[in-house]
Formats: sequence, structure tokens, C-alpha cells
Amino acid sequence: MDFIRDYADWFYLIGAVLFILTLRGLSGPKTAIAGNRYGMIAMAIAVLTTFFVAENPVVWMIIGAMVLGAIVGIARARTVPMTQMPETVALMHSLVGLAAVLIAVAAIIHNNKLAELDVGLLQANGVNFHEMSKVHLFELFVGCFVGAITFTASVFAYGKLAAKKWAKTISGVWVKPVQALIFIAMLGFGVHFFLTGNMTSFWAMTGLALAFGWVWIAPVGGGDMPVVVSLLNSFSGWAAAGIGFTLENNMLIVAGSLVGSSGAILSYIMCKAMNRSIINVLFGGAMGGAAPVVAVGDKAPRNHRSGSADDAGFLMSNADSVVIVPGYGMAQGRAQNAVKELANILKEQGVTVRFAIHPVAGRMPGHMNVLLAEADVPYEDILEMDEINSDFPATDVVLVIGANDVVNPAAKDDPSSPIYGMPILEAHKARTIMVIKRSMATGYAGLDNDLFYNDKTMMIFGDAKKVVEDMTKAINGNGH
Ligand code: TAP
Repeated sequence: MDFIRDYADWFYLIGAVLFILTLRGLSGPKTAIAGNRYGMIAMAIAVLTTFFVAENPVVWMIIGAMVLGAIVGIARARTVPMTQMPETVALMHSLVGLAAVLIAVAAIIHNNKLAELDVGLLQANGVNFHEMSKVHLFELFVGCFVGAITFTASVFAYGKLAAKKWAKTISGVWVKPVQALIFIAMLGFGVHFFLTGNMTSFWAMTGLALAFGWVWIAPVGGGDMPVVVSLLNSFSGWAAAGIGFTLENNMLIVAGSLVGSSGAILSYIMCKAMNRSIINVLFGGAMGGAAPVVAVGDKAPRNHRSGSADDAGFLMSNADSVVIVPGYGMAQGRAQNAVKELANILKEQGVTVRFAIHPVAGRMPGHMNVLLAEADVPYEDILEMDEINSDFPATDVVLVIGANDVVNPAAKDDPSSPIYGMPILEAHKARTIMVIKRSMATGYAGLDNDLFYNDKTMMIFGDAKKVVEDMTKAINGNGH
């Protein structure tokens, strides 16, 4: 095994390149499987190399931990339903945070114990001991407090997403001052530890960081949790990178930085697509899923046109092109398989059918892509917002299924709208618009939607799955 030890940096380099290929692969549904495979190989290389370069490893402990982790991981991966993916991811981030804290604690205790021993004795036993440098203390300080915040914040995010009773959203005027107080005290103890190496300050900083993770995330509304989970993903990466410095492990530094930066980029993309700033999401207080609420009742009543699934089926089967815009309502109504059936029937009739996906349609990143993939909709039929927007004016029928905010034209033409500036799918430009939803109620942002009152729009009220099934029946000629 000397070979692995001698060429450890090369193995780590191969692992790092594979991790970069993983991220590249995961950027598209077609390449995601290959991306996952690269990730698995990279992780295996990283774990095995680290195992062989470790000095005086307690072999049974490392193997025991790996076997235990593998059993839990395999069991969870086999049983977790797609809908519980976000909370599973949150739980995994919490483990990375906890690992960072434990490693920092172990490194400090280990160092303090060595410092108490006689240097001559240590050297006689082949142990090189140096006084901990300021740089080293700083790494531990950062790794530990970022890890501690990540740990409790991720546990809370898990509880919130899994609708656990203990994960209650908190609100009140006291929240922000308490957050500020804990944060300042945490930094104060951290700086004291950094300057003096005082252990009481270290424990106080760690305890306060754990408390801060909780009070920081607890006021964030349920609807904003996806952005928070993505941000915690980023944090867990930075915590791992910090610990990589402590352990002098290049692989951990590189992999941690990749996770940290990709999580930060995803959080930025999500915020941009929602036209919100990250500060607003994290410190905007409890919004419970709705940011700006406009009192719909304040406006004069407006007229909309409604029709039946049969009418809609007839119109679509006579169209040349149909674009389907799925939204949160398709997920809520579990309508994806019915939608795939409808698309197939239309295609059999010679209609060109494509799907248009908004980056924040639904309630988690890639929500619609996951559902459509689950229903086996071909990837080439699924187009991103930028790819499809210019096609709407030449589209005969756009069928909006349980989407609202992501097709709200106010984002383009009403500067007073709270979502003004948010990029949307320009469904209002199509020749005919059909919208499936259960009522005229608002969506996540709590805003009225001009699209529903457009002269070209036909509302089809009902549960998404039932309405889509009725449309398919109508096209098949068995309508009732
Ligand atoms: P929304 O704007 O929330 O609209 C969904 C619509 O679906 C509602 O108006 C609702 O109307 C309808 N609906 C619900 N259940 C239905 C069912 N069973 N059958 C038929 N219709 C149903 O959804 P969207 O257009 O997908 O936009 C997503 C929103 O979530 C955006 O504002 C986005 O910023 C926000 N958000 C997204 C994310 C991510 S990462 N995707 C994260 C946080 C927040 P009825 O009640 O009348 O049926």
C-alpha cells in the first residue's frame, strides 16, 4: 500500500477532476446518471486513499464507521420517496456540519493533550509536535462555527420539511435582536479563542453557534426552505473545506470548495428566478410561503372565461402546436402521469407537444423536471424558459397546469407589482391559453394574475389530474 501513500496527491487529483465532471454531469437530466457515477468513483478514490495515508489509523473504527454509514445510506436511498428528497438532503447536510464540529473539537483536544506532554518524550516516540499556529486556530474557528450553524440549521430545515411538531416557525419583534445578540456574542468568543486559545471561549462559541443555527432558520417560512437548503448545502461544503485545512487533506479542501461554490451558485439562481434577494429570504422573517400579499378583493370584480375539459380537448387536438406549462398544482395533484398520457395522445394526432419549465416552478429546484422524468416524458420535449420563450407567439395552445406566479405577466409589465422583474414563461403571448386550476385563488406570491382574465384565456376549473384525464378521454372520443 506504499504505492497509494506515495502517489496520494495524484489519486486526490484524479478524484478532484472526477468531482468536477460530476457537477458538470448533474447540470442536465441526460448526463445526470453519468455524473452520479463519476461522483461515486471519486468518493471511493477519496475514501480509500485517505484510509491508506492516515497515520496510525484505528482500522476497526474506520471500517466500522464506513460499514455503518453504508448500511444507513443504502437503506435510506432505497426507501426514500421522491417527495421526501429535500428533507433527506437537509438531514445529510446536518451530518457534514456535525462532522466539522467534532473534528475541530477532536483536533483541539488532541493538540492540548500533546502540549501537556514532555516534548522530548514525544520526539522519542516519533511524534512531531508544534505549537498550534494562528492560521491553524483560525481554520478551526471557522470550520467549527460554520459547522455548528450548519448542523442545527439543517436539523431544523429537516424538521420543517418533514412537518415535525418541534420545528415550529418562530416570529415576533424579539427575533431579530436575539439573532443579533447571539451572533455578536458568538463572534466575540470566537475572536477571543483565536487570540488566546482559551478553551472556555471555544466551548461558548460552539454552543452559541449551535443556538444561532436554530434561531436564524426558525423564522424562515416553509416556502423559502428550498433556498435555505441549497444555502446550507453551500455552508456544509465550506465547513468541510475548513476542516480539510485542519486535517491537511487536499481532497477535502477541493471537494468542500466545489460543494460550497455550487451550493452558493444554486441559491443565487433560485433567488434571481424568484426576484428576491438572499437577504430577504433569510432575514425577511416568517413569510409562510407568501411574500407580498395583495388584497385581491380591493380591486373591481373582473370577468374571466371558463370552459370544460371536452372543449379544451377538442381545441388542442385541432392545434398544430401545444406547449404545456406545469407548476406547483401539477405536483400537488400528482398529475404528471396523466399529463404524459395527454401529451402522447396529442402527439398521436400529429400535434407538436413540448413542455416549458420555469426554474422555480413548484417548491424545490428541478421539481417539475423530476416529476416529468418520473413519468418518462422524453428529455428532448422538455425546454427551459430561455429556450422556449421566443416560441410562444407562434404557439397555438399553451396549457398551464397548476402554475400561477411563473406565468404572471405583471412581472413584465406592472412596475408596481412585487414580482416585477422576475423572469416568467411568456404564456400570455400564445394564440390560445388554457389554465387548469381549482379556483381563481392566488399562488405562492399571493398575487392576482392578469393571464386568467386575458381575452384569449379559457379557465378549466378542477383538480389537475381529473381535468387532464377528462381531456384525454375527450380527445380519445369517449368524452362524457
Ligand atoms: P404557484 O404560483 O404557487 O401556483 C400554483 C397554483 O396551482 C395555484 O394557483 C393553485 O390554484 C393551483 N393548484 C394547487 N393545487 C392544485 C391541484 N390539485 N389541481 C389544480 N391546480 C392546483 O406555483 P408556480 O406557478 O409553480 O410558482 C412557484 C412559486 O413558488 C413561485 O412564486 C416561486 O417563487 C415559489 N417558490 C419556488 C421554489 C422553487 S425552488 N421551485 C422555492 C420557493 C418558492 P388553486 O388553489 O386555485 O387550485
